[in-house]
Amino acid sequence: MTSQTSDEKKVKLWDFPVRLFHWALVIAIVTAWWTNQQVMIDIHAIAGYSVLALVIFRIIWGFVGSSNARFTSFLTGPNKVFGYASKIPNGSMEDLTYAGHNPAGGWMVVVLILLVGMQAFSGLFASEDTFLFFDGPLVAYVSSDFANLMNWIHHTNINLIYGAVGLHVFAALFYLVVKRENLIGAMVTGARKVPSELTDRFANIRFASPVLGIGILAVCGALVWIGVTLARG
Ligand code: HEM
Ligand code: HEM
Repeated sequence: MTSQTSDEKKVKLWDFPVRLFHWALVIAIVTAWWTNQQVMIDIHAIAGYSVLALVIFRIIWGFVGSSNARFTSFLTGPNKVFGYASKIPNGSMEDLTYAGHNPAGGWMVVVLILLVGMQAFSGLFASEDTFLFFDGPLVAYVSSDFANLMNWIHHTNINLIYGAVGLHVFAALFYLVVKRENLIGAMVTGARKVPSELTDRFANIRFASPVLGIGILAVCGALVWIGVTLARG
């Protein structure tokens, strides 16, 4: 097999708010998981509120953010998803390179956001009443049936998160090791190296103002904080 060696060019792919969201989410989820292991429920709750604020921000950014952060840009129908997935094993980079999430990865992004959002939301109604005696901030406002359901979801959904995050990290490492495409570096720096003949695909990304993104994130954080404080009375 001969492949024409082509120049590579650096292109900008992810805006700052998307990258901040991603790595802050990773830190908050790991902190929530770790503090549960260490029985540090107060920090567990703070990490969970942070996840909630981040998820609300990302949903808003999915409508008003940079063009490749918008849900409409990366959620496609089943034909495209399966067409793309069938090309993963042997497809060339020309087949597999998107100026955003690819059709299969796009749906995975939604699954991850929904799962972690559900975990944080259900935590608001979760309780531990054997030795920590901790109630989530909204427990007092709902029926015990609903609180029990949310408690069950909180303890069950985490297993789906383990599965989805495992698959997600496996996919990122698969691209790095097998396909030799560093998507992880792009999520850190925002830039990605692509063959020069593919740079056109990245030329049409419209980047939204990062200040707007950080402003929206700050408002989401403040609203969650105020909501929790008011609920606690
Ligand atoms: C708690 C663990 C994690 C969660 C919940 C998570 C969640 C997400 C989400 C929601 C996105 C979409 C970003 C957006 O459009 O806003 C994403 C993208 C991405 N994540 Fe993660 N992530 C986790 C850990 C990791 C780790 C450890 C790595 C690196 C090994 C990683 C690598 C990536 C990459 C490369 C993308 C971009 C994929 C693409 O180019 O389409 N993630 N992740
Ligand atoms: C996405 C964010 C969160 C993650 C990843 C997370 C993760 C977990 C995990 C893994 C457990 C243990 C489940 C088990 O042992 O079966 C747990 C328990 C719990 N979480 Fe969360 N949680 C989050 C958010 C929250 C929030 C926002 C609250 C409330 C403020 C909360 C309150 C609780 C309570 C009360 C328990 C029960 C503790 C126990 O049984 O020892 N969590 N959480």
